[in-house]
Amino acid sequence: MKAEQNELITRVGPGTPCGALLRSYWQPAALVDEFDPALDPRMAQRPVKAVRLMGQELVLFKDGNGVWGLLDRDCPHRGADLSFGRREADGLRCPFHGWKFAADGRCLETPAEPAGSRLCERVRQRSYPVLEKCGVIFAWMGPEGAVPPPFPGFDCFIAPASHTFAFKGLWNANWLQAFEVGIDPAHPSFLHRFLRDEALEDIGQNAAGKQFRSASAGAIDGEQWPMTRIMREFAQPEISFEPRPHGLQLTALRPMTEQLTHVRVTHAIFPATFVIPLSETMTITQMHVPVDDTHTYWYSFFTSFAGPLDKEAMRAQRQQFISLPDYIPHAGRHNRWGFNPEEQLTQTYLGMGEEDINVHDQWAVESMGAIQDRTREHLGTSDKIIMANRRLLLQAIETVQAGGVAPGVADASLAGAMAGPDTVDGIAPAGSWPTWWRAQAQAKRDGAPWLAPAEGRAAAGTVPAGA
Ligand code: FES
Ligand SMILES: [Fe+2]
Repeated sequence: MKAEQNELITRVGPGTPCGALLRSYWQPAALVDEFDPALDPRMAQRPVKAVRLMGQELVLFKDGNGVWGLLDRDCPHRGADLSFGRREADGLRCPFHGWKFAADGRCLETPAEPAGSRLCERVRQRSYPVLEKCGVIFAWMGPEGAVPPPFPGFDCFIAPASHTFAFKGLWNANWLQAFEVGIDPAHPSFLHRFLRDEALEDIGQNAAGKQFRSASAGAIDGEQWPMTRIMREFAQPEISFEPRPHGLQLTALRPMTEQLTHVRVTHAIFPATFVIPLSETMTITQMHVPVDDTHTYWYSFFTSFAGPLDKEAMRAQRQQFISLPDYIPHAGRHNRWGFNPEEQLTQTYLGMGEEDINVHDQWAVESMGAIQDRTREHLGTSDKIIMANRRLLLQAIETVQAGGVAPGVADASLAGAMAGPDTVDGIAPAGSWPTWWRAQAQAKRDGAPWLAPAEGRAAAGTVPAGA
C-alpha cells in the first residue's frame, strides 16, 4: 500500500475524507455508566464530561431536565472550555461570562450584555444529535442540518437492558488497525492460543471473561470441545466472505475429520464494528470509535439470547483490567502489556495472561505503532478479509467525497434489510454446514425471551440475494 493511501484510510479529523465517511455513522460517545454517581462520584454534582471524538473537542452533558446535549467545547463567545460549565435545568452555562447554551446549541442568555441585547439570537453553538441505546450515548456528527440515518435495529440494540451489557476501553492506536484485528479470522488460532485447556464445567457463568474457553456448539465423538482447542489444533481456516447490506458476513471453516467441520460465522458491520459469538447463547458486538488518529475506544456490547445478565458481576470482572473513569487498561506499552516469557514457553502462545484475552488484541493493535505503516506489510491469503474491507473503505471514501451516500447503516434505504446478524461457532456435519449453522442460529433466536417468534424467524431466515 502506498503511504498516501494509508494516510487516506487512517486520518479522521474534521475535513479529512475518511473523517467525512465515519461521520456518516452513529458513533458511541460515552457509556451511560460514565454518568452514574455510583461509578463516578463527580457525576452526583455535575453530569458533564469532556469528550474527544474523531479529533474534535466536545462536551457531553445531561441538563437538569434529563436531556442529553453534545456541544463543541469551545464557547462561541471567546473560546473558554465549556466542559467546566455550570449545569442548569435547561442547559450549560460558560463560567467566563455566563453565556448559557441549551442542549440543542441555542444560546439562551448573554448576561453581561446590556438589557435588550439581541446578541443571543445570532449565536448558536454547534450541537450534535445524540441518543441513548443499550447503555451507550451515541452521537451523529454528520454535516450540520443533515438528517441522521435511522438507528440500526441489530440484536444488541433491540435486546432489553436486562439482556445487554456495555463496556469500553482505550487503545493507544489508530481506529483502523483496531478493527482489522477484530475482523481477522486467522488470528485466534495463534494470538489467543492456550497451550492447555480448562475443563468446560469450570467456565459456566464466567463465560464473559473467558472468550474462546466456552464450548463450540455441536460435538465430536459425543464430546464437546472448547473453542480454543479447535482454534489450536486447526490453524489454517478456509476463510470466505459474502456481502451483506451492513458489510460482510465472514466464514472461517476448519475441517476436522471427513465428517465434521468447524464453522465460525462472524460479521463486519461497516465501517468499524464486528459481531462474534462469545458462547452458544451470547454474542459480542464491538465498535471502534476514533478518539483521534492515534487513540481508539472500543465499545463492547454483550447480548444474551438466554437468561438476563449479571451486569454487576460483568462490570467487576472487566474492572480488574480496566480503570474507570477513563477506561484505561492496566496493561500497555509502559509495562510491556504484562509480557511474561516463562508463560510464553509453558502456558500461552503470546505470554500475556490467560485471564483477559482483550489484552492480547490490545498488544496486536498497539504494538504496530500509533498508525500502522502499511507500506511495509505483506498480506497473504489468510488476510482476505482485511483486503476486502480496505476495498470497501476506499470505495466508500470515494462515494462520500463525490457527494454520495455512505454504505451500510448510514444508508437509510437499507435500514429495513438489516437485522441480527447471526453468528455461530460450532462443529457441523462437513457436507451440510450451511444448513446446520442456520438451524443453530435459529434455535438461538427461538430461545431468546426478548425476540417475538416472528421477529426471530424473520431475522434468521433472511438470506440475502446471492447467498
Ligand atoms: S467565553 Fe464563554 S461566556 Fe465568554
Ligand atoms: Fe482477538
